[in-house]
Amino acid sequence: MSGSALYETFARAPLAFERGEGSWLITSDGERFLDFAAGIAVNSLGHSHPHLVAALGEQAGKLWHVSNLYEIPGQSRLGERLAQNTFADKVFFTNSGAEALECAIKTARRYHYVAGRPERNRIITIEGAFHGRTLATIAAGGQKKYLEGFGPDVQGFDQVPFGDIEALKNAITPATAAILVEPVQGEGGIRLVANDMLKAMRDLCDRHGILLILDEVQCGVGRTGRLFAHEWAGIEPDIMAIAKGIGGGFPLGACLATDEAATGMTAGVHGTTFGGNPLAMAVGNAVLDVVLGDGFLDEVNRKSLLLRQGLAELVDAFPAVFEEFRGTGLMLGLKCRQANAAVTLAFRDENLLTVPGGDNVVRLLPPLTVSDEEIRVALGHMRDAAEKLSKVAVDA
Ligand SMILES: Cc1ncc(COP(=O)(O)O)c(C=O)c1O
Repeated sequence: MSGSALYETFARAPLAFERGEGSWLITSDGERFLDFAAGIAVNSLGHSHPHLVAALGEQAGKLWHVSNLYEIPGQSRLGERLAQNTFADKVFFTNSGAEALECAIKTARRYHYVAGRPERNRIITIEGAFHGRTLATIAAGGQKKYLEGFGPDVQGFDQVPFGDIEALKNAITPATAAILVEPVQGEGGIRLVANDMLKAMRDLCDRHGILLILDEVQCGVGRTGRLFAHEWAGIEPDIMAIAKGIGGGFPLGACLATDEAATGMTAGVHGTTFGGNPLAMAVGNAVLDVVLGDGFLDEVNRKSLLLRQGLAELVDAFPAVFEEFRGTGLMLGLKCRQANAAVTLAFRDENLLTVPGGDNVVRLLPPLTVSDEEIRVALGHMRDAAEKLSKVAVDA
């Protein structure tokens, strides 16, 4: 037996935090880290946000869990608020992103099934995608490293290269049920799907009578400076999976759909024990109180500009370390010339937390509540780390 009773599935940093305050994480011996990882885009309002703490505390004193055998008023309220603020008419609550995707996939397949087209059950996905770690979502993501060793792949996914509209057109067959895409690939390395591409996807779906499913698990809930990333392209999906930011740190996901797309999701065809429980709903509603508040998203956009200006200077100043920066809102990435794991480590040595992503990118995903001063501090840490990395590169 190895040293720990835990599965060895995570390569964890040797750090344990005792508490969090806004954009900061603090170890038990008082060392402070500036958190530009935000639990991988989860702590949308930072740590210990007073409104979230109050909402969860108040609910915890009243009722934790009843199951979906009964009405859950907080669930109806959060569902209505999500519907009011999006394309959606219907919402199903889950505990995670992968479960929200499972629901999205099932919704799309059932839509065609109840319309008398059961053969339409295949979903086109995009290379570099990440949709979760369940058997269906690793098949949807199509990444070998996540599929290997887990037996037969779940069937029904056809993958096309990123940004290739011709390949997408050619992949559509009479068996196609839907196209599934992240408007901004997170794990894939902060890769933005161009607005024109999203519009072309919408158009293709309309022309072929197939559904557009968006995975906004990472890029949704204000992360890109709009409530949902697809709003920048002026299009609407038929189905959308969300999670991460909507719970602000409480496990919460949701699948949103139009009335039409949800026609197959009738009584008994899908379910969950924990999904939409009163605790999660109290927090989800509290997150929306803040994110939908006056000027909140304007601030995200203003702070994005500040951070992007700083990143442009950083990339110019350290060409041996960084190739470019990319992204939108507060979902940004530094494409590195050195190994992104080494850059992430160098940032951590300066007490700045970030997340590596695909395509040799370091992801910068601060809380949406990050202050101007914290952005300046983070940029200073990145500069200090880059100076050291450049020196190592020259000495080597
Ligand atoms: C775009 C996207 N979809 C789905 C998931 C899966 O979410 P979860 O880990 O909550 O199952 C993630 C998680 O990183 C994600 O980034």
